[in-house]
Amino acid sequence: MKTVIIYESVYGNTQLVAEELAGVAREHGDVDLVRAEEAGAGTVGGADLVLVGGPTHLHGMSTRATRQSGLASADTDDEPLGPDVPGAGLRDWFRLSGRVDGTAAAAFDTRLDGSELLTGRASVGIGRRLRHHGFTEVAAPRSFLVTLENRLVSGERERAREWVASVFESHLVDAGG
Ligand SMILES: Cc1cc2nc3c(=O)[nH]c(=O)nc-3n(C[C@H](O)[C@H](O)[C@H](O)COP(=O)(O)O)c2cc1C
Repeated sequence: MKTVIIYESVYGNTQLVAEELAGVAREHGDVDLVRAEEAGAGTVGGADLVLVGGPTHLHGMSTRATRQSGLASADTDDEPLGPDVPGAGLRDWFRLSGRVDGTAAAAFDTRLDGSELLTGRASVGIGRRLRHHGFTEVAAPRSFLVTLENRLVSGERERAREWVASVFESHLVDAGG
Protein backbone atom coordinates (compact mmCIF):
# COMPACT_ATOMS: atom_id res chain seq x y z
CA MET A 1 0.00 0.00 0.00
CA LYS A 2 1.21 3.47 -0.84
CA THR A 3 0.94 6.56 1.36
CA VAL A 4 1.57 10.08 0.09
CA ILE A 5 2.17 12.81 2.67
CA ILE A 6 2.05 16.40 1.45
CA TYR A 7 3.04 19.05 3.93
CA GLU A 8 3.97 22.68 4.32
CA SER A 9 6.18 24.03 7.12
CA VAL A 10 7.78 27.39 7.88
CA TYR A 11 9.60 26.65 11.15
CA GLY A 12 9.95 22.89 10.78
CA ASN A 13 7.33 21.66 13.26
CA THR A 14 4.83 20.39 10.69
CA GLN A 15 7.74 18.77 8.92
CA LEU A 16 8.66 16.90 12.13
CA VAL A 17 5.05 15.71 12.43
CA ALA A 18 5.02 14.66 8.76
CA GLU A 19 8.24 12.69 9.30
CA GLU A 20 6.70 10.86 12.26
CA LEU A 21 3.66 10.00 10.13
CA ALA A 22 5.96 8.76 7.39
CA GLY A 23 7.84 6.54 9.84
CA VAL A 24 4.66 4.71 10.79
CA ALA A 25 3.34 4.64 7.22
CA ARG A 26 6.55 2.92 6.06
CA GLU A 27 5.56 -0.05 8.21
CA HIS A 28 2.60 -0.42 5.84
CA GLY A 29 4.37 0.03 2.50
CA ASP A 30 5.78 2.76 0.27
CA VAL A 31 5.74 6.39 1.35
CA ASP A 32 6.22 9.60 -0.61
CA LEU A 33 6.93 12.53 1.70
CA VAL A 34 6.51 15.66 -0.41
CA ARG A 35 6.73 19.36 0.40
CA ALA A 36 3.75 21.34 -0.88
CA GLU A 37 5.94 23.41 -3.17
CA GLU A 38 7.20 20.25 -4.84
CA ALA A 39 3.77 18.63 -5.15
CA GLY A 40 2.00 18.61 -8.47
CA ALA A 41 -1.19 17.34 -9.99
CA GLY A 42 0.18 13.80 -10.27
CA THR A 43 1.71 13.55 -6.78
CA VAL A 44 -1.20 11.55 -5.33
CA GLY A 45 -1.47 9.21 -8.30
CA GLY A 46 -1.52 5.58 -7.18
CA ALA A 47 -1.87 6.50 -3.51
CA ASP A 48 -4.02 4.40 -1.19
CA LEU A 49 -3.83 7.02 1.56
CA VAL A 50 -3.05 10.73 1.33
CA LEU A 51 -2.16 12.80 4.41
CA VAL A 52 -2.07 16.58 4.00
CA GLY A 53 -0.90 19.00 6.67
CA GLY A 54 0.36 22.49 7.33
CA PRO A 55 0.72 25.15 10.01
CA THR A 56 -2.23 27.22 11.21
CA HIS A 57 -1.82 30.85 10.18
CA LEU A 58 -4.39 33.52 11.07
CA HIS A 59 -6.84 30.81 12.20
CA GLY A 60 -6.64 28.82 8.97
CA MET A 61 -4.41 27.68 6.14
CA SER A 62 -1.35 29.75 5.33
CA THR A 63 -1.19 32.17 2.46
CA ARG A 64 1.91 33.35 0.64
CA ALA A 65 1.78 36.53 2.77
CA THR A 66 1.59 34.69 6.10
CA ARG A 67 4.38 32.32 5.08
CA GLN A 68 6.55 35.27 4.15
CA SER A 69 5.76 37.07 7.39
CA GLY A 70 6.58 33.88 9.30
CA LEU A 71 9.90 33.57 7.55
CA ALA A 72 10.69 37.23 8.15
CA SER A 73 10.07 36.89 11.89
CA ALA A 74 12.05 33.65 12.00
CA ASP A 75 14.99 35.54 10.52
CA THR A 76 14.80 38.41 12.96
CA ASP A 77 13.93 36.45 16.12
CA ASP A 78 16.36 33.63 15.44
CA GLU A 79 13.61 31.06 15.89
CA PRO A 80 14.04 27.49 14.67
CA LEU A 81 13.63 28.05 10.96
CA GLY A 82 12.72 25.01 8.94
CA PRO A 83 14.21 24.48 5.52
CA ASP A 84 11.07 25.78 3.82
CA VAL A 85 11.18 28.69 1.39
CA PRO A 86 8.24 31.02 0.72
CA GLY A 87 7.24 29.09 -2.38
CA ALA A 88 3.96 27.40 -3.07
CA GLY A 89 1.79 26.24 -0.20
CA LEU A 90 -1.07 23.80 0.20
CA ARG A 91 -3.59 26.22 -1.30
CA ASP A 92 -1.47 26.28 -4.47
CA TRP A 93 -1.26 22.50 -4.56
CA PHE A 94 -5.02 22.20 -4.21
CA ARG A 95 -5.46 24.66 -7.08
CA LEU A 96 -3.19 22.51 -9.23
CA SER A 97 -4.69 19.17 -8.36
CA GLY A 98 -7.67 17.76 -10.14
CA ARG A 99 -10.42 15.54 -8.79
CA VAL A 100 -9.68 12.09 -7.43
CA ASP A 101 -12.05 9.19 -7.18
CA GLY A 102 -12.55 8.62 -3.47
CA THR A 103 -8.90 8.10 -2.42
CA ALA A 104 -8.65 7.83 1.38
CA ALA A 105 -7.23 10.98 2.96
CA ALA A 106 -6.85 12.82 6.24
CA ALA A 107 -5.85 16.36 7.21
CA PHE A 108 -3.55 17.52 9.98
CA ASP A 109 -2.08 20.79 11.17
CA THR A 110 0.12 22.36 13.76
CA ARG A 111 -1.21 25.21 15.88
CA LEU A 112 -0.65 26.94 19.18
CA ASP A 113 -1.50 25.07 22.36
CA GLY A 114 -4.87 26.48 23.47
CA SER A 115 -8.57 26.47 22.78
CA GLU A 116 -9.20 25.95 19.09
CA LEU A 117 -11.87 28.65 19.32
CA LEU A 118 -9.01 31.08 19.86
CA THR A 119 -6.32 29.51 17.68
CA GLY A 120 -8.29 28.22 14.69
CA ARG A 121 -7.14 25.07 12.87
CA ALA A 122 -5.71 24.84 9.36
CA SER A 123 -6.75 21.17 9.18
CA VAL A 124 -10.42 22.12 8.96
CA GLY A 125 -9.83 24.00 5.70
CA ILE A 126 -7.50 21.27 4.44
CA GLY A 127 -10.15 18.64 5.15
CA ARG A 128 -12.79 20.70 3.35
CA ARG A 129 -10.57 20.97 0.29
CA LEU A 130 -9.80 17.25 0.38
CA ARG A 131 -13.53 16.47 0.26
CA HIS A 132 -14.08 19.07 -2.44
CA HIS A 133 -11.47 17.35 -4.61
CA GLY A 134 -13.12 13.96 -4.23
CA PHE A 135 -11.01 12.43 -1.46
CA THR A 136 -12.75 10.35 1.19
CA GLU A 137 -11.79 11.75 4.59
CA VAL A 138 -11.12 8.67 6.71
CA ALA A 139 -10.24 10.46 9.95
CA ALA A 140 -11.25 13.72 11.59
CA PRO A 141 -8.77 16.56 11.04
CA ARG A 142 -6.09 16.42 13.73
CA SER A 143 -4.03 19.20 15.30
CA PHE A 144 -0.59 18.85 16.82
CA LEU A 145 0.40 21.57 19.24
CA VAL A 146 3.33 23.96 19.41
CA THR A 147 4.45 26.17 22.27
CA LEU A 148 4.59 29.97 22.19
CA GLU A 149 8.32 29.46 21.54
CA ASN A 150 7.29 27.58 18.37
CA ARG A 151 8.45 24.12 19.37
CA LEU A 152 6.37 20.98 19.37
CA VAL A 153 4.76 20.40 22.76
CA SER A 154 6.28 17.41 24.51
CA GLY A 155 4.53 14.20 23.48
CA GLU A 156 3.19 15.50 20.16
CA ARG A 157 5.51 13.33 18.09
CA GLU A 158 4.12 10.28 19.87
CA ARG A 159 0.57 11.56 19.35
CA ALA A 160 1.32 11.86 15.65
CA ARG A 161 2.48 8.27 15.50
CA GLU A 162 -0.57 7.08 17.43
CA TRP A 163 -2.91 9.07 15.21
CA VAL A 164 -1.65 7.66 11.94
CA ALA A 165 -1.47 4.16 13.40
CA SER A 166 -5.15 4.49 14.29
CA VAL A 167 -5.94 5.65 10.75
CA PHE A 168 -4.32 2.52 9.36
CA GLU A 169 -5.96 0.24 11.89
CA SER A 170 -9.51 1.50 11.88
CA HIS A 171 -10.02 2.57 8.29
CA LEU A 172 -7.60 0.87 5.98
CA VAL A 173 -6.78 -2.51 7.46
CA ASP A 174 -10.47 -3.17 8.17
CA ALA A 175 -11.27 -2.13 4.62
CA GLY A 176 -8.81 -4.70 3.37
CA GLY A 177 -6.37 -2.08 2.11
C1 LIG B 1 1.93 34.55 10.27
C2 LIG B 1 1.58 33.54 11.34
C3 LIG B 1 0.28 33.47 11.80
C4 LIG B 1 -0.06 32.53 12.79
N1 LIG B 1 -1.36 32.44 13.21
C5 LIG B 1 -1.72 31.45 14.09
C6 LIG B 1 -3.08 31.26 14.46
O1 LIG B 1 -4.00 31.97 14.04
N2 LIG B 1 -3.37 30.25 15.31
C7 LIG B 1 -2.39 29.42 15.82
O2 LIG B 1 -2.72 28.50 16.59
N3 LIG B 1 -1.09 29.58 15.48
C8 LIG B 1 -0.74 30.56 14.63
N4 LIG B 1 0.57 30.72 14.27
C9 LIG B 1 1.58 29.79 14.83
C10 LIG B 1 1.76 28.65 13.87
O3 LIG B 1 0.63 27.80 13.91
C11 LIG B 1 3.03 27.88 14.20
O4 LIG B 1 4.11 28.73 13.93
C12 LIG B 1 3.10 26.64 13.34
O5 LIG B 1 2.16 25.69 13.78
C13 LIG B 1 4.45 26.04 13.37
O6 LIG B 1 4.49 25.12 12.29
P1 LIG B 1 5.75 25.10 11.32
O7 LIG B 1 6.95 24.99 12.24
O8 LIG B 1 5.56 23.87 10.52
O9 LIG B 1 5.76 26.35 10.53
C14 LIG B 1 0.93 31.64 13.30
C15 LIG B 1 2.24 31.74 12.83
C16 LIG B 1 2.57 32.66 11.85
C17 LIG B 1 3.98 32.72 11.34
